[in-house]
Amino acid sequence: MTPEIDASALRGDAPTQPRASRSADALLGDPPVRTGRGRATGKVILLGEHSVVYGHPAIALPITSISARAEATTTAQASRIDSALFHGLLSSAPDRLRPTVTAVRAALGADDPALGGVHVRIDSDIPSERGVGSSAAVAAAVVSAVSQARGRTLTPDERFDLVQDAERAAHGSPSGLDARAVCASGPIWFRRGTVEHISVGAPLHLVVADSGVRGRTREAVESVRALKQSSPAVFDHAISALSALTTRARIQISDGDVEGLGTTMDDAHRHLGVLGVGDRALDHLATAARAAGAPGAKLTGGGRGGCILALAHDPDHAAELVARLRTAGAPAAWTTHMEIA
Ligand code: MEV
Repeated sequence: MTPEIDASALRGDAPTQPRASRSADALLGDPPVRTGRGRATGKVILLGEHSVVYGHPAIALPITSISARAEATTTAQASRIDSALFHGLLSSAPDRLRPTVTAVRAALGADDPALGGVHVRIDSDIPSERGVGSSAAVAAAVVSAVSQARGRTLTPDERFDLVQDAERAAHGSPSGLDARAVCASGPIWFRRGTVEHISVGAPLHLVVADSGVRGRTREAVESVRALKQSSPAVFDHAISALSALTTRARIQISDGDVEGLGTTMDDAHRHLGVLGVGDRALDHLATAARAAGAPGAKLTGGGRGGCILALAHDPDHAAELVARLRTAGAPAAWTTHMEIA
């Protein structure tokens, strides 16, 4: 007698069905179970958020102390996810996991459904909705893990394209800056999807502090787009200024001009405020950082909540800034740095 095989159980993300019988597996021969792993870090934007959406350059760097990790195991069953937010079938994941679901599906791509699915376990210490790259890092870890489990090694550009699929589900029309920055090993100069390494003339010590207010990148990006329609002169002036500041920052980083870079960051914070992506909690932390001796401080990422980035003079000053910003109300703060390169 031909054993009954439940085809839906063999599809990548079909609703779960109990397996028909072990004898089916025995006849077909279970495919070997393969495991893949992926990891990506948090990121912080030094200069160029929002203007980057309109084709201008941006500078970003990884926050290596926080990361997202994923492990994917092939399975003949339906695909499933285990994460802090959700445990269950890919096909019944809630809407807030749409970017992660998109990442899994993008990485499975056009694979034959008869190959079965993947069981993806995600672990992340990057806070979400804080402008430090959580959605892009989770997507980057997931696409690497799933592809590896399926026997594929992604090139950086292939990985970028898959992460961008997930980022579109998260933010609508992302510039691609986050997708590149969470996979970078050092500071990057980003423009229209491509990345260059930048020269660093002196070590730069930075502190990222969480305002505790959820950032709303999609909303912030949409509000800037609305400003472009309603007040084109205001929009043009702020975007051009941010673009010029980003170019200036690249030179200051290369020259090791910490004081100059601080002033550039302060200026960028003001122009981002004009674009309407500032927030009182961010202003409060930026002011606290400057009062604690930071040469400059600005919001970072989408804004309207999320994090600020402050420049420190040296590692001890960075540690002091962390303490002062925590006292000023930041629920979390991290340090990161740029080495001479
Ligand atoms: C978000 O981290 C950065 C933005 O410039 C949006 C984007 O680049 O897609 C606000």
